This record gives sequence, structure tokens and C-alpha cells, in this order.
Amino acid sequence: MDSVSRFMLLLPLILSISITPYQVTAKSAAAAKGAAAAANGAAAAANGAAAAANGAAANGAAAAPTDLITKNCQSAVNQELCVRTLKSDPNSKQADAFGLATITLKHALANATAISNQVKKLLAGTPTPYDKARLTDCNENYESAVENLKDTIAAVQSKGLSDATTWLEAAMTDSETCEDGFEEEPVHKSMLADESAIFQQLCGNALVILNSLARH
Ligand SMILES: *[C@@H]1O[C@H](CO)[C@@H](O)[C@H](O)[C@H]1NC(C)=O
Repeated sequence: MDSVSRFMLLLPLILSISITPYQVTAKSAAAAKGAAAAANGAAAAANGAAAAANGAAANGAAAAPTDLITKNCQSAVNQELCVRTLKSDPNSKQADAFGLATITLKHALANATAISNQVKKLLAGTPTPYDKARLTDCNENYESAVENLKDTIAAVQSKGLSDATTWLEAAMTDSETCEDGFEEEPVHKSMLADESAIFQQLCGNALVILNSLARH
């Protein structure tokens, strides 16, 4: 064999040797691309998972207040009234336990104000002398309850739980004193009995929330 023929014979080998590294490079580049794509896919999947997790967290955040309402109404005097009062207020969605206590107290304050106005209307009518005497006391009692509840709310807002409890109990005593006046003579039924009962339940529900806050 002459040198040219020998070269021609060896050419495929030479070519294959010289090309191989490029092929390998190209292959590994393709493999790297594939891996990168896979990695991107994984990253996308991870993002998807993160998005799902965020979604779950967002759902959790939206669900939490309902749980918090249920939790705070668990030992309520009137559980149904407790849940209904809190759910009726849009602010309860973002509220913590202090917020929920404040919402319940504001509702009790509105109730006390309404009862106080009702007492004034009854007094402006023509009550019997017995009722007039009782209603005059109740007028003072509910005016005092309104003030005591305003102090309760102010105390809760400055996180003075002990003061808040004292003012709230004073408001409840005001309402009881009004009802006690009527009970002195059982034949004269209190015309405020139903309103007072609901008012005291609202206050009692708020008291339970304050007590549980004080324990934590
Ligand atoms: C007190 O609140 C209750 C519960 O929300 C409500 O049904 C009732 O009408 C209120 N009472 C007055 C006198 O406004």
C-alpha cells in the first residue's frame, strides 16, 4: 500500500476520532439543554407548588377568622348570638381576638343605647306610677351602662383587660339592677325583660372573650 491509500484507509478513523469530541460536546450540550429544560420544568413545577402553597395560605387566611369566631364563641353564654353578632360585622374578617371582643362590645353598646332610648320613650308616654318609678331607675341604669361600655371599649383598645372586665361587669350590673326593680313586684312584668336578656347575653359573650384573652 502506498501512503495515499493508507491515508484513505485510515481517513474514516481519523475523521471519527477528530469529530467524536464535537459529537460528544454536542451530545452533552443537548443533554445539558435537556437537563436545563428539565430543571426549568422542575422549577416551573416548584413555582406551581409555591403558587399552590400561596393559594392554600390565602385560603387559610380567609378561613382563619371563621375559625377564630368559632373558637371565641365556643364558651359563649349564647353561642348562636355570639357567632351571628360577629359574622354580621364585616370587620370581623380581619379581626384578632381583641378585635372580636371590640365588635361584640360595640354591638352591646348599640343595644344599650337603643334600650336607653326605648326607656325614654316609655317614660314620655303614660306609664303607671309603679312603672314610672321603675323606668326612671332603668333610665339611669342604661345611661350608666352606655358609659360603662364606652369605657370598656376604650380599655380593650389600650389592652387594659382588667379594667375592661371591671367596666363590662358594671354595665351588666346596671342592666340587672333595672330588671331587679321590676321583680320587686312580680305582678308588674318588666317591659324591658327581653331586651335586657339579649343585652346581658351580648355582654356575657364579650366577657368570655375578654377572660380568654386575659388567660393568654
Ligand atoms: C340588641 O341586639 C340584638 C342582637 O343583634 C338585636 O336582635 C336587638 O334588636 C337589639 N336590641 C335593641 C333594643 O336594639
